[in-house]
Amino acid sequence: MALLKVENATMQFGGLTAVKDFNLQINEGEIVSLIGPNGAGKTTAFNMITNVYTPTKGKIIFNNTDVTGMRQDIITQTGIARTFQNIRLFNDLSVLDNVLIANHVHIKSNFIEATLKLPKYRREEKEMIEKSLDLLEELGLQDLRYEKATSLPYGKQRKLEIARALATNPKLLLLDEPAAGMNPTETDELTAFIKEIKEKFNLSIFMIEHHMNMVMGLSDKIQVFEYGITIAEGTPSEIQNDKKVIDAYLGVSEDD
Ligand SMILES: Nc1ncnc2c1ncn2[C@@H]1O[C@H](COP(=O)(O)OP(=O)(O)O)[C@@H](O)[C@H]1O
Ligand SMILES: [Mg+2]
Repeated sequence: MALLKVENATMQFGGLTAVKDFNLQINEGEIVSLIGPNGAGKTTAFNMITNVYTPTKGKIIFNNTDVTGMRQDIITQTGIARTFQNIRLFNDLSVLDNVLIANHVHIKSNFIEATLKLPKYRREEKEMIEKSLDLLEELGLQDLRYEKATSLPYGKQRKLEIARALATNPKLLLLDEPAAGMNPTETDELTAFIKEIKEKFNLSIFMIEHHMNMVMGLSDKIQVFEYGITIAEGTPSEIQNDKKVIDAYLGVSEDD
């Protein structure tokens, strides 16, 4: 079943068309990757899906609902979570607090109940802490729960960012260059980690990545951008043998 459908999404910044007529379907349980040179419009595609930018034209349909232009927090609640190309964490807060804050999208108490710490809120807060600790344990981060986010090694910060995204209970996880700056060993570890969380949390995944081993090893389908336009889409082997792609990207790119 189609979980996400993007129909002719176009994003213009003044005179620049960053993405033009972007079409995509991600079915439940699929991993789809978006590749292409820097500046091709990949992050902009993510930004349209999560309404960081409302598309100039076109539609984003998630779970049969038109979410085009919806508030970002509502999009999160409907089940789309993302990570960022440049890690975004609350640096001075602990690992646990970082996950707790992400968890708060699901708190049902109102402002008064929260401010006065009424019983309903206290109960919810306790549940949130337990849920966050469970999540950290499942992801193997429990020993680091009281460490400051910035004190973690880079690979663990990336994992924590994914943990924060998972805390919102997504159906679809968007990963923007999750292996950026990683060495081959760390990249292999992350590949295994992504496979693991996909199964554990029943996810569909849309990923932007430059590490081709990772892209080819994980993806059911790949879409290739150049100058904001889709120049190819297909299975990993179709993409690896596509002459346009080799010329535009694979042939010239130094993988690592
Ligand atoms: N907020 C913005 N305002 C103006 N131009 C932007 C904005 N965001 C991205 N762009 C431009 O859109 C193009 C695509 O950028 P981006 O989506 O970040 O590419 P990629 O993620 O593939 O490297 C680039 O030319 C970039 O400068
Ligand atoms: Mg980008």
